[in-house]
Amino acid sequence: MTAVLIDGKAFAARVRAEVAGHVARLKADHGLTPGLAVVLVGEDPASQVYVGAKGKQTVEVGMASFEHKLPAETSEADLLALIRRLNDDPEVHGILVQLPLPSHLNSDLVINAIDPAKDVDGFHISNVGRLGTGQKSMVPCTPLGCLMMLRDHLGKLAGLNAVVVGRSNIVGKPMAQLLLGDSCTVTIAHSRTKDLAAVCRGADILVAAVGRPEMITGDYVKPGATVIDVGINRIQRDGKSKLVGDVDFASAVQVAGAITPVPGGVGPMTIACLLANTLTACCRANG
Ligand code: GUN
Repeated sequence: MTAVLIDGKAFAARVRAEVAGHVARLKADHGLTPGLAVVLVGEDPASQVYVGAKGKQTVEVGMASFEHKLPAETSEADLLALIRRLNDDPEVHGILVQLPLPSHLNSDLVINAIDPAKDVDGFHISNVGRLGTGQKSMVPCTPLGCLMMLRDHLGKLAGLNAVVVGRSNIVGKPMAQLLLGDSCTVTIAHSRTKDLAAVCRGADILVAAVGRPEMITGDYVKPGATVIDVGINRIQRDGKSKLVGDVDFASAVQVAGAITPVPGGVGPMTIACLLANTLTACCRANG
């Protein structure tokens, strides 16, 4: 048996179309255009690609995109001053500071300077606390995209065993909170977990977010499980550059019930959820 493929690319296109429909109605009925400001400090090539894609898709759904590209040596004071300006700008409903920041900048300080109501990444400490206590919050985009795909594929998640491999603030921890919110029994595993394969084999839902290429092989997967691969790793194989996930697709697809491919799985959902969060922030700001 081979697994069903969960098509994140097609799902993300549906989410973007829905967002675009809402944006058009906001414009027509209320004269409102949701606006997203993206701040990039420095020239990290991967970040430049992500920021370019975010700006392009923001415009495609009819929103306003404000890109702020700052030199790598930008001071913390200058970056904080920009964030204060964006916080006060009524045309900006969402603010995203692309991570990682250059090492001389304190990411926590910078993220926590963003108005929590405009924090479309859901990284501000107040949104993290609100998510953890079940209060209305901005939800981090990648885990939100994973949850949407899981609900779409499985329906109700209540009572399922979920194992999240990875404990990052961006993916692992908020993913665990979201699954707990849907009444899963949640385990957070990581690089120091003893007998990781056995822990993973207990999972009805297995979310791989470890950042290690193809580490989760078929023998980590319970037959019939739903596998969500958050990893995006560039590797060299047969003299060619290739994108692979944290899951060894070739072996996992033989065991899983459903699986997200890389590319074309979680990746496209992240930006679609960013646009959905920006729309939500605009609607909340305008009652
Ligand atoms: N860098 C990698 N992923 C993300 C993300 O989801 N948001 C931001 N701001 N930076 C990132």
